Amino acid sequence: MRTEIKTLFPTEVMFGSFNEELVTPVAQELLSNLDFSSGGDVSDISLLGNEHNLPELKKFFNNYVVEKFNEYTEKLFDHKLNINKCKFKAWSVNGASDYNLGFHNHSGAQLSAVFYFLVEHSNRTGGKIRFHDPRFNANRGMTEPFKFRHDDVEFLPRTGDFVIFPSYLYHSVSPFNGNIRLILPVDMFMDA
Ligand SMILES: [Fe+2]
Repeated sequence: MRTEIKTLFPTEVMFGSFNEELVTPVAQELLSNLDFSSGGDVSDISLLGNEHNLPELKKFFNNYVVEKFNEYTEKLFDHKLNINKCKFKAWSVNGASDYNLGFHNHSGAQLSAVFYFLVEHSNRTGGKIRFHDPRFNANRGMTEPFKFRHDDVEFLPRTGDFVIFPSYLYHSVSPFNGNIRLILPVDMFMDA
């Protein structure tokens, strides 16, 4: 008799990082051009649009963000994106003390990313992004020795880090207790 266990329906998350010298000019540009005084998201309109004059951000986006989305799709699907047929939305969040974000996903998009441009980092500051098992109720009835496979996956970001994940994946951010957490979330909408 032969048995085999295959892992079906995995959810791939890409983790990576950039050197600080690549992200610092973008962080400086965002901080000096955007008004974060309300303490939350900036822009209903994508920061990549012509309404915003953010050349460093656009350069970073064209040179690196697109490349990382491409790397993700090439590795997973063996298929290079046709960037001209994709739409992107990027906004910015500068979380100060007490910032946190509840359980959510990014409706309408296919892939999402978060680029961490400037993040105060220590064990005390918190601000972990937490990915939740997308198989709802998969942990139902699981007793202690079997539950661990459904635990949230946490990631404590540093300046320069990024993550790319399928937009259906629910995630949240644990309370942040530092002074600055400047990030750029990006949603990608495939047209083809
Ligand atoms: Fe999100």
